[in-house]
Amino acid sequence: MVSERFSNRVTEMFRIQHPIFAFSNEPRVVAAVSRSGGLGVLGTGTCSSEELDRRLDWLDTEVPGRYGIDILFPVITEELDVGEIERQIPASHREFVDKIVTQLGIGALSDEGRRLYGEGHLLTNRWAAELASVALAHRICAFATALGPVPGDIFSALRERDIKVIGMTGSPGQARRQLAAGADVIVAQGTEAAGHVSDITTMVLVPQVVDAVSPTPVLAAGGIASGRQMAASLALGAEGVWTGSMWLLSQEHGLDAVLRDRLLAASSRDTVRTGALTGKPVRMLRNKWYDLWESDAAPAPLPAPLQGILVRPALSAALEHHVGDAMGTPAGQVVGMMNSVRPVAEMIESMTAECLTALDVAGRQAAREPGKISR
Ligand SMILES: Cc1cc2nc3c(=O)[nH]c(=O)nc-3n(C[C@H](O)[C@H](O)[C@H](O)COP(=O)(O)O)c2cc1C
Repeated sequence: MVSERFSNRVTEMFRIQHPIFAFSNEPRVVAAVSRSGGLGVLGTGTCSSEELDRRLDWLDTEVPGRYGIDILFPVITEELDVGEIERQIPASHREFVDKIVTQLGIGALSDEGRRLYGEGHLLTNRWAAELASVALAHRICAFATALGPVPGDIFSALRERDIKVIGMTGSPGQARRQLAAGADVIVAQGTEAAGHVSDITTMVLVPQVVDAVSPTPVLAAGGIASGRQMAASLALGAEGVWTGSMWLLSQEHGLDAVLRDRLLAASSRDTVRTGALTGKPVRMLRNKWYDLWESDAAPAPLPAPLQGILVRPALSAALEHHVGDAMGTPAGQVVGMMNSVRPVAEMIESMTAECLTALDVAGRQAAREPGKISR
C-alpha cells in the first residue's frame, strides 16, 4: 500500500507536503505552488531590483515564509565596472545587433521597460549581490543559487536567518563546490532543462550527484513534468524534483499568447542550446532571434557577461513591444509533453497521483507479479 503523502528529509526541511519545487518568474505561480503543497521559487533573471522588491512584498502577504528565491551567481569574482566591460564589446557585434533589431522591428526600450526589466540578463556578482540584499529583507525560506555558489558574506546572512541554501548544479564537480560552500540541498539539473545548462542528461547526472554529495539531499531537475518522471527521479536517488518549464503553461502564469501558442505547438526538438542570450549556454524555445545568431552573417556570441550586456536591451524591448520573432523564453525538452493550460493545483495533484501510481507499478514489476501490473 502506497502512502497518500510524501515524507522524507526534503519535505521535513521545507515543511511541504509534496517534494515538488517549482521555479517561476511569475509570483502568482510561486504562490499557487506553495499553496498546493510544493515550494514555489521566484526567479530573478528578468526584473530590476525595484521590481523584485515589489514582487516579494506581494509574496510576503500571500505565502509568508513559504517561498524561495533563485539568483544567478556567475563565477566572476572581480568587481566589474559595467562601463569598462561595455568598451570590450566589438563594434562589429553592435552593428550586427542593430541590424537584426531593425530587421525584426524591435524598437527601443521605454523608461517603464527599463524600470521593469532592469539589468536582468547582466551576469555579474555585483548585480546578484544587489538582488540578494533585496531578498534578505523579505520572508523567504529558501535561497537557490545558480551558476556558482553564494559568496560567503551572503551565506552568513542566510544562516543567521535560518534560510535554507539550495545549490543548482549541472555536473558532479559543481555539486561538490556547492556542497563545500555550505548548500543544504543540491539540485542536479540535466541538459534537457530550460535555462543555463551543462551537457549531461538528467538520467546520467542525478545518480552521480547523489553519490558525490551523500548524505546531502538532492533534487532532480531537467525533463520532469509528469508523475512518471517524478517517480523515476526518486528511483535515481533524488528526494524531490525541481521543475521549471511546465509552469509556463499554468493558468496562473498568464503567458503572452504568442509564446503560449508556440509552446503548445512545440515538440521536444524545438528547443536549442545557445550562447546568444547571455554568453553561457541557455536552452530556449527556438525562434528567429536564435536563427539569426546561427546564420553565416552572425559573429560568434561573446563570453558572459558581454553577450548579455550587448543583447539585453533589445530582448527586453522585444518583450515590452510583443515582437513575436524576438520574444523568447527558456524552455526545456519537456515542452513536447506540454499540451494544455491548467491551474497549478490541478497540475500538482495529477503529478503526485501519477507518481504514486508509477512507484506502485514499478514496485509490483520488481515483485514479479505477472498479470497484475496495470497503469
Ligand atoms: C522561463 C525559465 C527561466 C529560467 N531561468 C532560470 C534562472 O534565472 N535561474 C535558474 O537557476 N534556473 C532558471 N531556469 C531553470 C529552472 O530553474 C529549472 O532548473 C529547469 O526549468 C528545470 O528543467 P525543466 O525546464 O525541464 O523543468 C529557468 C527555467 C525557465 C522555464
